[in-house]
Amino acid sequence: MYSTDAPASGGRQFSRAAAPGALPVLGHALLLRRDPLGFLDSLPAHGDLVEIRLGPQRAHMACHPELVRQVLLRPRVFDKGGPLFDKVRPLVGNGLFTSSWEEYRKQRLLVQPAFHPSRMPRYAAVMSEEIEVLSGSLREGRPVDLGDALTALTARVTARSIFATRISAPDVAEVQRSLPVLLEGIYRRMTAPLGVAEKLPTRANRRFAHARNSLLQVIERTVRASAAARTDRAGTADGDAAAEGDEEGSLMSLLLAAHRGAAGEPGAAGYRPTVTELRDQAMTLLVAGTETTASVLAWAFHELAGRPDAARGVREELDGVLGGGTARREPGIADLPRLPRTQRFLTEVLRLYPPGWLFTRTTTEDTELGGMPLPAGSTVLFSPYMQGRNPRVFPEPGRFDPDRWLPERAGDLPRGAMIPFGMGSRKCPGDGFGVTEATLTLAAVASRWRLEPVPGTVIRPLPKAALVTGPLPMVPYRR
Ligand code: HEM
Repeated sequence: MYSTDAPASGGRQFSRAAAPGALPVLGHALLLRRDPLGFLDSLPAHGDLVEIRLGPQRAHMACHPELVRQVLLRPRVFDKGGPLFDKVRPLVGNGLFTSSWEEYRKQRLLVQPAFHPSRMPRYAAVMSEEIEVLSGSLREGRPVDLGDALTALTARVTARSIFATRISAPDVAEVQRSLPVLLEGIYRRMTAPLGVAEKLPTRANRRFAHARNSLLQVIERTVRASAAARTDRAGTADGDAAAEGDEEGSLMSLLLAAHRGAAGEPGAAGYRPTVTELRDQAMTLLVAGTETTASVLAWAFHELAGRPDAARGVREELDGVLGGGTARREPGIADLPRLPRTQRFLTEVLRLYPPGWLFTRTTTEDTELGGMPLPAGSTVLFSPYMQGRNPRVFPEPGRFDPDRWLPERAGDLPRGAMIPFGMGSRKCPGDGFGVTEATLTLAAVASRWRLEPVPGTVIRPLPKAALVTGPLPMVPYRR
């Protein structure tokens, strides 16, 4: 077990090593491409800070939780950058997820209040409507690709939460269609070593370009309509109060208010975002908020089917809170504090299958990490996946055991060890949104349906843009 009270810096000795198996020229790039999860799993055994080589470039993987903590708590020095963010930025724009420290500060000031807990009931109402559509579409004994259904669900929930009433039904459907194509294409572009294949006029590349353009058009159309709405209202006596009230609850409402400005003044964060900035922010929220929650849910249903003991505990809790059989009712946000077992189940899913499995940072000045001097421009990596499976922190890490999150057992985890949402000032602002959506979906569907895997299906973690299950054919049976 690691000590939990290691000093923030200095004082403590950290072991450093170079990862074995580097090939001439390619370094570890091939290993990382062929079996990324196996490669990540192997690294903590070599040291607390492990050097790997990506082609000619050297990068350092923070394996010890304390080093991860030091990276994440110094976001100005260990800034967003490095191979991952450099590849994603041109594809989704310069929104909150990819922006560097200076940009980030003003963006986050504007976006953060949109995730305040007081706003959650409005988002939860949208979630419940969409979950009801998904749950109602299942048919007794008829196989369904649950992975696809969950991506459609979260795409619709995120799109509707970003824009509230301003997004039209056909445009929500377009987001649902285009987003999975975009996410798959982003992953391929992130991992392409040369970036040449992505420029060829192949069918896949055309589909990607079409999906990206369609999404950008939907977003831009909706942003412009929202931006114009206030201007129109200002010129009329009564305005469109109902629509304004609806839009006020959306994720984008604060950004739109800042864009419009009160009587020409800049917004709360001291600047007026342009329409392009609003578009980038909306695209970021769509990309960051969709496949993450969908993959957590896919893993949750997969594990629920394969772990009879844990599943029994979850179902008993759901029946106790929501009523079983004909007395059953749909879950709402007020039920969440009464579902601790369901929440522990999801936390265990997040430990083993964190959607964001690998992240990079770049140093903005000469610094050090674990005693290793790092010149400005160095690449540092950390992996929520590796942290969650570290045997020195989690005994029997491969065992799915939601009870490890009982308060009396979870209390002494070192900080930096369980980071499915990151940590520090760049921690995921959508964590409450994602957990609410995942809990409501699991509660609503699992209290009504038992989902069995189609026999013969083999599911293993696929490290793509998120850590996904791949196709997840399951057969619903009424409970
Ligand atoms: C279970 C679901 C989710 C997981 C596991 C997750 C995970 C993460 C992680 C690990 C980061 C930090 C990345 C880094 O440090 O480089 C992050 C950042 C972010 N997430 Fe999430 N996320 C989830 C859901 C959402 C949702 C629903 C939204 C929005 C609707 C969202 C929006 C964002 C944004 C905007 C950032 C960038 C924050 C910043 O850099 O300041 N996420 N997320």
